[in-house]
Amino acid sequence: MTPKGDFKTVLHDREEGVSEEQVQLLVDAARLAAANAYVPYSNFPVGAAVLTITGEVFTGCNVENASYPLTVCAERVAIGTAVAAGHRRLQAIAVTAPKMNGVTPCGGCRQVINEFRGVDAGVAVILDGKDGPEILKIDDLLPRSFGPSDLKQ
Ligand code: THU
Repeated sequence: MTPKGDFKTVLHDREEGVSEEQVQLLVDAARLAAANAYVPYSNFPVGAAVLTITGEVFTGCNVENASYPLTVCAERVAIGTAVAAGHRRLQAIAVTAPKMNGVTPCGGCRQVINEFRGVDAGVAVILDGKDGPEILKIDDLLPRSFGPSDLKQ
């Protein structure tokens, strides 16, 4: 499957690129994670897989709660798992929702993804679609973001 979007440009012009193999691996890992989603209220499973700049992969699924606002999105579970293992710089994150084509991270998750971007690099955001993966940049999903560097003035 050939990824859509300016994948090659991302790969060469910015340090947020991922290879085609990595994209597929992340999408597969996210799909597997989605199978573990705890979604008794929405019945809308989501899976996510992050790739750290050191090449490690961590996954997450959404975990809902009877007290609805306590629900945690798949992306945040995956990122929290990576952070708990000592990783703070993400190269890419893949997101999948079996019931939706090309699901994108919610606004809150975009902010959390942005928090753990590489120092100079961004983060590639891979959407799982029926026509193949689509690769975006966190900067495009969260323009003019407020992030860690804004607190270091
Ligand atoms: N959800 C995610 O896990 N990630 C997103 O980016 C979108 C929303 C989950 C939260 C909730 O469990 C379900 O999808 C419906 O909103």
